[in-house]
Amino acid sequence: MMVTELKPGVYWVGVVDWALRRFHGVELSTHRGSAYNAYLIVDEKVALVDTVWSPFQDQLLANIREVVDPAKIDYVVANHAEVDHSGGLPAVMREAPNATLVVSKRGLESVEGHYHQPWNFKAVGTGDSISLGKNSLVFVEAPLLHWPDSMFTYLTGHNVLMPNDAFGQHYATDARFNDQVNQEELYEEALKYYANILTPFSHLVTKKIEEVVALNLPVDLICPSHGVLWRKDPLQIVHKYLEWAAQRPEPRAVILYDTMWNGTLRMAEAIGDGLADAGVPYKLIYAAGTDRNDALVEVFKARTLLIGSPTMNNGLLPSLEPILGEIKGLKFKNKIGAAFGCYGWSGECVKLIEHHLEESKIPVIRPGIRAKWQPKPADLAACRAFGREIGEATKRPLE
Ligand code: FEO
Repeated sequence: MMVTELKPGVYWVGVVDWALRRFHGVELSTHRGSAYNAYLIVDEKVALVDTVWSPFQDQLLANIREVVDPAKIDYVVANHAEVDHSGGLPAVMREAPNATLVVSKRGLESVEGHYHQPWNFKAVGTGDSISLGKNSLVFVEAPLLHWPDSMFTYLTGHNVLMPNDAFGQHYATDARFNDQVNQEELYEEALKYYANILTPFSHLVTKKIEEVVALNLPVDLICPSHGVLWRKDPLQIVHKYLEWAAQRPEPRAVILYDTMWNGTLRMAEAIGDGLADAGVPYKLIYAAGTDRNDALVEVFKARTLLIGSPTMNNGLLPSLEPILGEIKGLKFKNKIGAAFGCYGWSGECVKLIEHHLEESKIPVIRPGIRAKWQPKPADLAACRAFGREIGEATKRPLE
């Protein structure tokens, strides 16, 4: 990708990773690839804000060289030490031997912990600034958005906010700006990113946005470290984050299930019919065959989570375990839940699912429903009534 001049003397020098399909090892699916965004500011002093993942470091250096000799870089800002942004630091710091490496206070620990190099560190806190000549970099600590070391960098004069992971999307595209891409794709990726990465920190998202808004900084561009940059109505994504952080899910349901011989599937379908009777939209999500991160987006959006599994080896079907672990870790708010499943012998599945829901702080609003062997017509009628009741609860306004 070509270097893009965003403002006079402000350049995007990042890379687009079209082929990325798994991120964080294999933890997160990235169907549309990603971009690692880095920004070069040429004023009287030269600053680089963030780098890229190390497999792409040569491309980053080539991009920088198109604008300026890397040896002229005075400041390298590492907003966050996760390697998709800091991986290029060793190469950049070799090429820029006089550069000061600017990190948050917690970044001192995390950057040193990753690279063990005696770089010339400078730790900054909220409100600190570094003059580049005409304009300055101003820093705002953003702990737990999404690591304790996370920091936002703001460029005065050009009004550019570089908030690192916040407001990003795993989205590879030939375009650099939000107004140049398909809006549905953009928001699908922005929400997937929020739901899978930022949900547990939602209360901090709200507080941090309120704090930054109170600073009254003019914002022309929001330049996250992944995906496209927010140029048209840049605050639209800030407002979306406030909405997502409030966790006010829609009155809809997700029926997350696995099944061995379709008995639990029949129950899921009958529960769905009951939800439909109550006028509540729902999705059946087959845990064994659905991308976990995509399923979590549906869970994020829905008020109600119904989980179904037959009993196997005194437990649940294994496909459900990873997603139940994530549901607990993501600490969703304002949800209600219930369990169902069929069984042949011991039949613990419903109790175990209810235990998972309780551990995830999702109240079980109705005792779960079980069917022995293949569900009979009476079992399916009971499932439908169960779905109707849960549908009515789903429609109740949130407090
Ligand atoms: Fe937290 Fe994009 O790394």
